[in-house]
Amino acid sequence: MIRVYIFNALVRTIGWFFGQTISVKKHNNKDILTYPEKTWDLVPYPKFKRPLFNHDNLTTVNRHAFIEEPCFHKARLAAESRWIKSFKDQSEVRNITWRLHTSIWAAGAALKAGIDNSIFVECGTGRGFMATGIAEYYDFHKSARPDFHLMDVFQKTLDDPHAYSNNPASFAYTDDPVELEMWFKKYRSIYIIPGLIPGSLSKLPDKPISFLHMDLNSAGAEEAALQSLKGSFRKGSIILFDDYGGVGGEDQALIHEAFAKDNNRELLVMPTGQALIVW
Ligand SMILES: C[S@@+](CC[C@H](N)C(=O)[O-])C[C@H]1O[C@@H](n2cnc3c(N)ncnc32)[C@H](O)[C@@H]1O
Repeated sequence: MIRVYIFNALVRTIGWFFGQTISVKKHNNKDILTYPEKTWDLVPYPKFKRPLFNHDNLTTVNRHAFIEEPCFHKARLAAESRWIKSFKDQSEVRNITWRLHTSIWAAGAALKAGIDNSIFVECGTGRGFMATGIAEYYDFHKSARPDFHLMDVFQKTLDDPHAYSNNPASFAYTDDPVELEMWFKKYRSIYIIPGLIPGSLSKLPDKPISFLHMDLNSAGAEEAALQSLKGSFRKGSIILFDDYGGVGGEDQALIHEAFAKDNNRELLVMPTGQALIVW
């Protein structure tokens, strides 16, 4: 570990010498020097003088002006407020804004799909980052919106052999559904459904699902949920997988691929680690 501190100090000093702020970031709370790779390209895009997005396993200078958009900014702040208490240093709150952008787009497409009497469902809500971002962006406090059911077992440690062996997102978990109820009270038509999936899915109303956010970090539970819910999808329903591509989510990726293939649907794979199906 001492090597990490020395390296970091050297990098900062070199940056200071050239009038630049350079630091070695942590990723998923791990110093990058502890990763297996030993070769790092410290200046990946020197040719393109455009804003760099360099978070959440995604580094690109591709346009991401959505981050500056006022409604998105408000949604992001509300979503991040759900995690802030989990981080001692607030500057370390994990930046997943591109994923949030995708989720907001997906929920918006589901709203526009116009599926009669349909509901939104999230399998795996944790502290409610994504659900908050979506509720805030689409003004669930003021406007008439579909019922949005947030499902989670609300146990920080779950005895599930299929769950991530090294869960990189423990800050997103909670065992306090009451606190979550209080938080979501200000939004209309949001319901918390505690319980273990797939069993708790029987508590959902018998209505079409226009938007499903799947984020259980557990291949077995995600597979069971997809099988249980697939009869509720309609043309235009959106299924968004949070953990298709992430390290540790390999078993989930196989489930998502098989689900798409078995149902003759195309899986859109995104560099954020998410994947998406339009039914
Ligand atoms: C990565 S977290 C969800 C993060 C959340 N979507 C967000 O936006 O912050 C995964 C959640 O899935 C829940 N979970 C895992 N397996 C479950 C199961 N079988 N039934 C219900 N919840 C489960 C965990 O309790 C945890 O809160």
